[in-house]
Amino acid sequence: MITSTELETKGNLFPGEVESLEWDGNSVTFSTKNNVMLRIHVLRDSILRFRYATDGIFENDFSYAIDKDSMHGFNKFQIEEAPFVITIITSKIKCKISTTDLKIGIYDLQDNVIVEEEMGFHWEESFKYGGNFVKMNKTSVDGENFFGLGDKPTNFNLKGKKLSLWNKDQFAFNKDLDELYKAVPFYTALHSNIAYGIFFDNSFRTHFDFCQEKRNEVKFWAEGGEMNYYFIYGPKIADVVTSYTHLTGTPGMPPMWALGYHQSKWSYFPESRVNELAAKFRELQFPCDAIHLDIDYMEDYKCFTWNKRHFPNPKLMVENLEEKGFKTVVIIDPGIKIEADYKIFKEALENDYFCRRADGPFMRGKVWPGECYFPDFTNPKVREWWAGLFKELVGEIGVKGVWNDMNEPAVMEVPGKTFPMDVRHNYDGNYCSHRKAHNVYGMQMARATHHGVQKYTFPKRPFTMTRANFAGGQRYCATWTGDNIASWEHLWLANTQVQRLCLSGMSFTGSDIGGFAEQPSGELFTRWIQLGIFHPFCRVHSSGDHGNQEPWSFGEEVLNITREYIRLRYQLLPYLYTAFYQYVEEGIPILKPLVYFDQEDVHTYYRSDEFIFGNQILVCPIQDANVQGRRVYFPRGKWYNFWNDELLTGGKEYWVDAPLERSPIFVKEGAIIPKFPVQNYVDEIEIEALFLDVYYKDGSETSILYEDAHDGYDYKKGRYSFKTFKFRGKPGEIVIQQHKDGKYITSYNYLKLRIHGLPFEIEKAYLDNEEVSLKSLDYNPADRTMKIPKMFDLLQFTSAVKADRIEIEENTD
Ligand code: GLC
Repeated sequence: MITSTELETKGNLFPGEVESLEWDGNSVTFSTKNNVMLRIHVLRDSILRFRYATDGIFENDFSYAIDKDSMHGFNKFQIEEAPFVITIITSKIKCKISTTDLKIGIYDLQDNVIVEEEMGFHWEESFKYGGNFVKMNKTSVDGENFFGLGDKPTNFNLKGKKLSLWNKDQFAFNKDLDELYKAVPFYTALHSNIAYGIFFDNSFRTHFDFCQEKRNEVKFWAEGGEMNYYFIYGPKIADVVTSYTHLTGTPGMPPMWALGYHQSKWSYFPESRVNELAAKFRELQFPCDAIHLDIDYMEDYKCFTWNKRHFPNPKLMVENLEEKGFKTVVIIDPGIKIEADYKIFKEALENDYFCRRADGPFMRGKVWPGECYFPDFTNPKVREWWAGLFKELVGEIGVKGVWNDMNEPAVMEVPGKTFPMDVRHNYDGNYCSHRKAHNVYGMQMARATHHGVQKYTFPKRPFTMTRANFAGGQRYCATWTGDNIASWEHLWLANTQVQRLCLSGMSFTGSDIGGFAEQPSGELFTRWIQLGIFHPFCRVHSSGDHGNQEPWSFGEEVLNITREYIRLRYQLLPYLYTAFYQYVEEGIPILKPLVYFDQEDVHTYYRSDEFIFGNQILVCPIQDANVQGRRVYFPRGKWYNFWNDELLTGGKEYWVDAPLERSPIFVKEGAIIPKFPVQNYVDEIEIEALFLDVYYKDGSETSILYEDAHDGYDYKKGRYSFKTFKFRGKPGEIVIQQHKDGKYITSYNYLKLRIHGLPFEIEKAYLDNEEVSLKSLDYNPADRTMKIPKMFDLLQFTSAVKADRIEIEENTD
């Protein structure tokens, strides 16, 4: 961290007393005697934006994080003036501004404190760099908890931690290491069952102190730029996270194949090895949709080239793989090899697309190809040029996905492992040094890549992923947690980091399953697969230096178990796809940490092993060697053991048996879980019937199902199907009401129902109030399975002749 002496500052400066106040339709601006301005924008009834200017001049209002399409609008915006305090009132919150010192307090409408300020806004002038070191101190009430901040490899609850955000290449990182690949300056706080969020939209290195230095103080500050942050009121964590995700955007639907299993290694080459790999997957009937090619597919690690000795005809290879149901995903790094007659290098040089040092020379640094120059992705022209480079790779050769790496940006053998701070960036016309652009460099590369891949895969959907990212970068790319290690601690970390990223707006995430560095035992690999199938992105990747990490590399037992789990992922694809749709449409995280699922239960505040996959499946990975089970905390409600239908009442801990072939998975009672038959890859077979696993409940529960063509953009024109299933059960009767929205017509005509935990024998069945014979439904009383035509409004099973006709309720969801 930079100290005051280094900055040669005059120490902390404060806003002082308010002199004047102006307001318009959606903002209030305060000016103080010390020439500080504070502008508070009301974005929504629950979202306020705070901006401070220290010389009475605001910076150009520009943000890479905020989604331009995010909707604003509020019901109420009222201002009350009283001696020494101005109050802004919306229909959700009150914000009080002290006119003596500009300190802020935010309260709910019942006057409960949400958050108040300690020192409030203050700053130090930076003589060395110009501008300010901008700071905010808030008070923290006892018992407050903090969650979020992206990919931090540390305990899920951030209380007591001091962390900073500066994207860094950290090979084989360790637990509690501070700076990693991503910078997401957003956290959610929870106290007294009230949740709120702070999004500090500042791309300089930022720092957060969650009551580490002082027990009742939260601080966040940046090494430059403006104090510019969004306050997001809950009171539910879910409200905070979805509002933040809405503000910073969500991606489009991925092609469904991208939710299948991916196999990767540094590196699979030559072509014959790739083909053998593909053949082996099919021979063993181990489902797999994508094979990733790492840097060795290139000629001398030069981006957009192929090593013709290893890959003499890439187009043909990609086509052959495609025929077998594999998509090819390739890596692309930012460093462009300095080589006079290398086409990409020449183009960038001629157009002045490379980053320069302060005094003019190009930014030169070593990465895989040796000495490189680096495109300035913060320049819109550079992004456009870069997107066009995918024409051949994607448009002609047929590669279906691109994976961006080393874009923190990583530079080898230099202090700080990145660009020096004086490097200049365009920053979309807001010219600046690397101090400001560093944290968004990877995001802007990912953005350009995404647009290129999107353009040339059209009319299909693109798949892109990135290692470095910034808040809002989820709009463009999936991501993974980087260069982890094959250790049990890293399995724990993968679980924690992916949940944290899901609470930070970045749901499309996974880890290098099995570990990138070093080699896992068969047991560790199995347990990691058992976790990885529940991560939105599911890829085995390894450095390749320490033996093989294909699922068959650990013997027959591991192969059989992991295949069973990957098949389970493929069966659960309609369920995962539905959760993805909720993420895309509503910003709902695909994985829900327990505290998100039930914040009223204080036990969840520190329970981070367990999580909810989608809305109704509880997962608790095994994270230790040689164990035959573990204690699992069950959130409130009742849960069926996925493996044997045993019903357990939540709100407490249970011992759960988990021999190697069984990982703890539970289903919420009343849930209706959609499933596909097992496939070797997405769309291998035409689905003839969708499975619906119904879990009996004495009560009601709503489940949903989103479907579309699995690829393409028709879903945006209404050709999707969104079904709501309302389950109601009581001893002697169950009722399922179905409601459908959207124009998409699924290829299958039947549903295969299986009812779990039914406490009575079915004697009668009714479809839309008409009795139908159980025989006509192929009903099998032994496992309570049956076949139902997909179009029904109401389905009813009873233990005796039913008394009344049921009125079909209007769908109110
Ligand atoms: C970086 C990536 C890793 C990749 C390697 C070689 O370490 O994080 O996934 O395999 O570079 O490209």
